[in-house]
Amino acid sequence: MLDHLTIVSHPLVQHKLTIMRRKDTSTAGFRRLLREISLLLAYEVTRELDMTTVSIETPLCGMEAPILDGKKLALVSILRAGNGLLDGILELVPAARVGFIGLYRDPETLQPVEYYCKVPDELEDRMVIVVDPMLATGNSSVAAIDMLKARGAKNIRFLCLLAAPEGVERMNKAHPDVPIVTAAVDSHLNDHGYIVPGLGDAGDRMFGTK
Ligand code: URA
Repeated sequence: MLDHLTIVSHPLVQHKLTIMRRKDTSTAGFRRLLREISLLLAYEVTRELDMTTVSIETPLCGMEAPILDGKKLALVSILRAGNGLLDGILELVPAARVGFIGLYRDPETLQPVEYYCKVPDELEDRMVIVVDPMLATGNSSVAAIDMLKARGAKNIRFLCLLAAPEGVERMNKAHPDVPIVTAAVDSHLNDHGYIVPGLGDAGDRMFGTK
């Protein structure tokens, strides 16, 4: 079983993350590293996919060999930064189904409000991996997982690149059944909700906006 929180300490992940954090890393470099790191994180978060065996013939003999079992994995990206993690994961699991959730923050209540939700069917029979590079306050992740559970999802993982302790705590309280996989947990959130030391605004850095 994955723990509540898995920090992927592999040297390649940590090295790539350090380059992504640097303020002078270009948009193209940031995007390339995010795709590379997402492959490595995907390897960890898909550890518990169901397996079965099939009979196959190698050039030498027959054997019972392991293959993935059950309904296709569902990846759900929290717009827009979640899309940066999708490409790498889809390279590893090309048959995965993909959904998108869009949330904005109500300026008065400061609570996340849904503006878009298109997710694969039969969520109850799939492993669902929610992707968003930055787990900051946890408000949007918790809301996205609420929406997925309301649509039947039962077997959910959350994959991010960086997390704040505040976001991890909020997620573990709201959804203790959802393991979190990340490359690092940083020090804290600042007054603007940015992860410190962090890497800035992940969406801006991957899409070259300000
Ligand atoms: N979202 C980001 O892109 N960066 C942060 O530091 C926090 C939330």
